[in-house]
Amino acid sequence: MKTRAAVVEGQGQPFTLSEVELDEPREEEVLVRMVATGICHTDLTMGSFLPPEMFPNVFGHEGAGVVEQVGAQVQGLEPDDHVVMSFRSCRDCSTCKAGLVGYCDSTLLLNYMGMRMDGTTTMQRDGSPVFGSFFGQSSLAAHALAYADNCVKVDPELDLTLVAPYGCGFQTGAGTVLNVLRPQAEESLVVYGAGAVGLAAVAAAAAEGVESIVAVDPLAGRRAVAERFGATTVDPGAVESVVDRVKELTGGGATYGIDTTAIPEVVKQAQQSLAVRGTLVALGLGAPEYVVDAIDLLQAGKTVTSSIEGDSDPQEMVPRLLDMRAAGTFPMDDLVTTYPAEEIGQAVADVTRGAVVKPVLVW
Ligand SMILES: NC(=O)c1ccc[n+]([C@@H]2O[C@H](COP(=O)([O-])OP(=O)(O)OC[C@H]3O[C@@H](n4cnc5c(N)ncnc54)[C@H](O)[C@@H]3O)[C@@H](O)[C@H]2O)c1
Ligand SMILES: [Zn+2]
Ligand SMILES: [Zn+2]
Repeated sequence: MKTRAAVVEGQGQPFTLSEVELDEPREEEVLVRMVATGICHTDLTMGSFLPPEMFPNVFGHEGAGVVEQVGAQVQGLEPDDHVVMSFRSCRDCSTCKAGLVGYCDSTLLLNYMGMRMDGTTTMQRDGSPVFGSFFGQSSLAAHALAYADNCVKVDPELDLTLVAPYGCGFQTGAGTVLNVLRPQAEESLVVYGAGAVGLAAVAAAAAEGVESIVAVDPLAGRRAVAERFGATTVDPGAVESVVDRVKELTGGGATYGIDTTAIPEVVKQAQQSLAVRGTLVALGLGAPEYVVDAIDLLQAGKTVTSSIEGDSDPQEMVPRLLDMRAAGTFPMDDLVTTYPAEEIGQAVADVTRGAVVKPVLVW
């Protein structure tokens, strides 16, 4: 079928809407009519990250829409189901069976190779391949081919423009707190970078009753949201030493830290802000290397680690967070700014300069 997609034509190029030919769903595929697609920072990074031979390419991994067609082998989904899409996993390898689907043995092939496992692309244009299958969806498009493993069925009453970001950004920040760090109320958390991922972490920590939460971000608007969620904030440009300020606010150092900036120097600050035996989870994507303060690491027995999607299984985490949203303990709706799909350029410009937190395209 013909559909519209936001195509990135080459390395470092912008997103431009273009007509593409999307395959009919194969036996194990699901055709989803997109209602809304969140833009995650990772969509912006991929365009400069992939090799030139992987273009043109369609990204997008926070799609939400309505199932139009299911292949013969698809179980658990049927036409008219409303779904939030997340990343893919095989659900069959030992890692998947242990519940750690973000580290599936086939993660690279299923999410990042730009094509199906058999090397075919799901999209073409003028007879040439258009790379896609990003997170098994490439949902910066009016239609997407997805899979039962990455489609999470949601209540059809939900506004899909508000729940699209649960498939990646919100799940990653919240999952890092709820699955990876599991802070106790009397412990403390510092979050460097209060974008969609960082603010989801702050909201989840507040929901868990963590009393001492600090958020660091140069953008006043984002600090204001973090404060509304219950954090104390630090403007890194307004203090002599961010690390000293965070230590002051957390009584000597934070039990846990999360970095979402992907800025090597900031990752180091986040590590230095920890208390003895503290743990930092570096979530950002974009820098080839991080800086670690080796003396501080050793002396204080700290841990620097990372996580894919907050160690979440989307089939569990998305419904869990939607329940928290319904209960009022995960108040992320205000972070969403919607744009008509045609205004993707504006959406990207706005999130890049920090004017909005979570742009969501409406198809
Ligand atoms: N690990 C995963 O599974 C996963 C999943 C989703 C996103 N990501 C990555 O997480 C990162 C965050 O994503 P996002 O959508 O929230 O991005 P974002 O750009 O909205 O957030 C980053 C924030 O860092 C802030 N920042 C910049 N300089 C800073 C400094 N010196 N100190 C403190 N904060 C500073 C920015 O103002 C911004 O608010 C990206 O790198 C993205 O690719 C990783
Ligand atoms: Zn697997
Ligand atoms: Zn993402």
